[in-house]
Amino acid sequence: MVAAVFALLVEGWLRAPAAAPPPTAPSPSVAAAVSALLLLAVASALLVSTLWPRASASSGGYPPNAGADEASRLIALEDKHGAHNYHPLPVVLSRGQGALVWDVGGKVHFDFLSAYSAVNQGHSHPRIISALVDQAKTLTLTSRAFHNDQLGEFCGFITSFFGYDKVLPMNSGVEAGETAVKLARKWAHFKKGVPDGTAKVIMAENNFWGRSIAACSSSSDPDCYKGYGPFTPGFELIPYNDTRALRELLEREGKSVAAFYVEPIQGEAGVVVPSPGYLAECKRLCAQHNVLLIADEIQTGLCRTGKMLCCEHDGVRPDVLVLGKALSGGTMPVSAVLADDGVMGVITPGTHGSTYGGNPLACRVAIEALKVLRDERLAERAEALGRMFRGACEQLERKYAWVECVRGRGLLNAIVISKHHPVSAMTICLRLADAGVLAKPTHDYIIRFAPPLVITERQMDDALRIIFAVFANSAKA
Ligand SMILES: Cc1ncc(COP(=O)(O)O)c(C=O)c1O
Repeated sequence: MVAAVFALLVEGWLRAPAAAPPPTAPSPSVAAAVSALLLLAVASALLVSTLWPRASASSGGYPPNAGADEASRLIALEDKHGAHNYHPLPVVLSRGQGALVWDVGGKVHFDFLSAYSAVNQGHSHPRIISALVDQAKTLTLTSRAFHNDQLGEFCGFITSFFGYDKVLPMNSGVEAGETAVKLARKWAHFKKGVPDGTAKVIMAENNFWGRSIAACSSSSDPDCYKGYGPFTPGFELIPYNDTRALRELLEREGKSVAAFYVEPIQGEAGVVVPSPGYLAECKRLCAQHNVLLIADEIQTGLCRTGKMLCCEHDGVRPDVLVLGKALSGGTMPVSAVLADDGVMGVITPGTHGSTYGGNPLACRVAIEALKVLRDERLAERAEALGRMFRGACEQLERKYAWVECVRGRGLLNAIVISKHHPVSAMTICLRLADAGVLAKPTHDYIIRFAPPLVITERQMDDALRIIFAVFANSAKA
């Protein structure tokens, strides 16, 4: 009974929206009631911790193994009937709110992945969900065979939000990347004068922009391309963060180059942050050679790195902007490509599209998702909390020789551990999950930490405590 009361109290606290405004001073009677409740909570907690010593602070008052059978059943079902194209941590999630997610056993975790930066606005953001539900009840899909009453609003809103003439809406991130590559090739053939079928797109080594044949064809990661040939020609790879390589390639082949497609920070490669000024110099070189700079801000954009767009850190406005992930606040696949008329004008009816691209549900959700980013000043939040996170984690760097570095921008960060350390990044992530922080390794020795941007300072503090404890326990094999 006491445990149930405690569970309800903890549950109630955790259910509070992550970005709730600061509480105002309570009236004396409210204050008395709150004090009584607090006393009851503390007493219950003490009793629970005696009766139930294995329940951790992050378990939300649930028995530690509750749901283990259900989790095993669901994992086995997925394993048996689903293709094995991912290697997830053995956690089965069934609910999310703000920066928190609950597994099927009711255990609460801090989400430090945010679905690879798709959930910047936090899980189930009430404004986004309300727009989603309202629009879902009204009109979801018309195809582009007809107009719908949301698409024009979306086009007007997003182009003025980012300062471009035109937008082309798609669904997944890789479709937006494909759109940008097609757009650049067509622009090169129609406007720049490159002979048809010969335009090249330069990409950086260790890029990641999805899983299509073109994305595999331009990848330097064997996991991404091995076995998937024949590959699409027309891509050239240069090292990332190397303006000299870009300059030399453009001096040699600039006449046949349509675009340089680049991530402002390489996310999947392990949160690789280029030198200050890198993008600005890329933009200068591209302009000099009449080459489009395409910025893939699918992971870095929408406030994740402490600015609305990561390119802003370098004062760069890309010629083509590619957005996805958090454009829907983690509710559905919505992506978009933005460019000015001189570029987007090469797209004519029937030459590109998607059945779901520009659907009214996506349009309504995307407008709300962008408004939330702006209204809740999530860029500033990411900047401040990112500093707090890196500042704290630098202690780990100083304390443990096997922690090589902490790097990132805003709330897109990674801890790099030594390749020779006997405890792998995956093992550390399993231990973190056990302790209530969900993070995922990229490669065997890098752990990415990217919580929803609505995470509160108190939640960040609690999560850091868990991270510190797990690192302390991972100093030896
Ligand atoms: C920079 C970047 N571009 C494109 C994509 C592909 O997005 P999607 O998985 O929605 O196709 C990703 C996915 O992680 C990404 O990080």
